[in-house]
Amino acid sequence: MKDKMIIKGGRPMSGSITAQGAKNAALPVMASALLLKGRRLTLERVPDLQDIHTMADLLRHLGAMIVFENGRMTIDVPEELNWETPADLVRKMRASSLVLGPLVARCGEAILPLPGGCAIGSRPIDFHLKGLARMGAEIDLEQGSIHARTKGLSATRIILDFPSVGATENMLMTAALTPGESIIENAAREPEISNLAQTLRAMGAHVEGDGTDTIIIRGTRDLESATVRIIPDRIEVSTYLLAGLMTRGNITVNGINTKYISSLLSKLEEAGVTAETTPDSVSLSAEGMNWSGVTLTTSPYPGFPTDVQPQIMAALCMADGTSVIHESVFDSRYVHVAEFKRMGGKIDIQGNTVVVIGVPRLSGAEVRASDLRAGAALILLGLAADGETVVHELKHVWRGYENLMEKMTSLGADIELIESDEPEG
Ligand code: EPZ
Repeated sequence: MKDKMIIKGGRPMSGSITAQGAKNAALPVMASALLLKGRRLTLERVPDLQDIHTMADLLRHLGAMIVFENGRMTIDVPEELNWETPADLVRKMRASSLVLGPLVARCGEAILPLPGGCAIGSRPIDFHLKGLARMGAEIDLEQGSIHARTKGLSATRIILDFPSVGATENMLMTAALTPGESIIENAAREPEISNLAQTLRAMGAHVEGDGTDTIIIRGTRDLESATVRIIPDRIEVSTYLLAGLMTRGNITVNGINTKYISSLLSKLEEAGVTAETTPDSVSLSAEGMNWSGVTLTTSPYPGFPTDVQPQIMAALCMADGTSVIHESVFDSRYVHVAEFKRMGGKIDIQGNTVVVIGVPRLSGAEVRASDLRAGAALILLGLAADGETVVHELKHVWRGYENLMEKMTSLGADIELIESDEPEG
């Protein structure tokens, strides 16, 4: 498998690209198809990514029939579903936990192997389970798998301990198939939540308040076939914008709702970098530009997204001055720091805070991706550094960046993929 990238750094990235469909919107919307009985969910602008295929395989295992081509996906859901999820797929992708609520609501039962931890933290699903229990599901842990059962769920008020994206999505979908009025408080406010809410409304559920911290759902047992367009991927767009900045190029990204990236744009303003925006495109011209260090804390939307933390840390490694980054969403999302230091990054981890002292030049090195966004950040560093960088374990990056080689090459990157001579990690 071509799992190694050779990058020749120092070339400005210039040109324009179009945003992909959002991975983190498509995954929950795909899971919501399980709420349908003998009906079809059609999705448009679905990105062609590893995780999308993993979710499709999971839904097929449960009984759905899926056709996916040129960004368009149809999911036909039979009258009867299998409610036992396969360990290999669940362990491959944490987002598999998003089928739990729909299966319990639809079939009255579900078995889900506990998703493993990953490089960015333990990532339990206790908030999901507490919410389901609150709605009337019995939750047992048997041989490392969750076994959820119910004789009938009831609409209720759920207050999340933390505005968890996945827990909000699981509760939303479960309540949509549960007659009566449910309220989710301390809900996540991400745009991906609204894309899911839009899908549930198209299916015939009443959902209001998505995008705020209080969502009201009036569910129904019989949801209809629907069609939904996946929103653009704000994390992908942020990654390419920072590639343009770090290589002092000139990048335009089309097809993005710039409201989704306002926290990044305001942080860049603070660093002395001004992007030009229209309602659906953003341009950044960084020739000869320097930027200052900043202080930032990641937080749930509309705060600064944790999924852009590795990428902006990479840009701040080259800033004029010192930056302080506080990761408040995950308990350990600094695995990439060691790899950044191999390329000359001057970074000091102090508990859940990182101090970055900007340096004028970075140098290429052999580095290893630990997770999706860390891998993307290492590619950005390779594009900006002097000399050659080799990024290993690219399998993480293919999970979330559609047509990455084509897009990067079209912007002027000098990158090459080669077979990895190492055993499968
Ligand atoms: C979603 O993950 C995204 N994934 C993540 O993107 C993103 O980093 C995260 O939201 C935060 O924005 C998808 O949407 C598929 P959370 P999710 O529940 O839902 C803790 C990427 O790169 N927590 O909001 O798993 C959890 O450990 C990925 O695309 C509990 O303690 O995130 C974390 O510290 C990486 N118990 C925090 O809450 C729970 O039951 C936020 O997690 C659930 C979460």
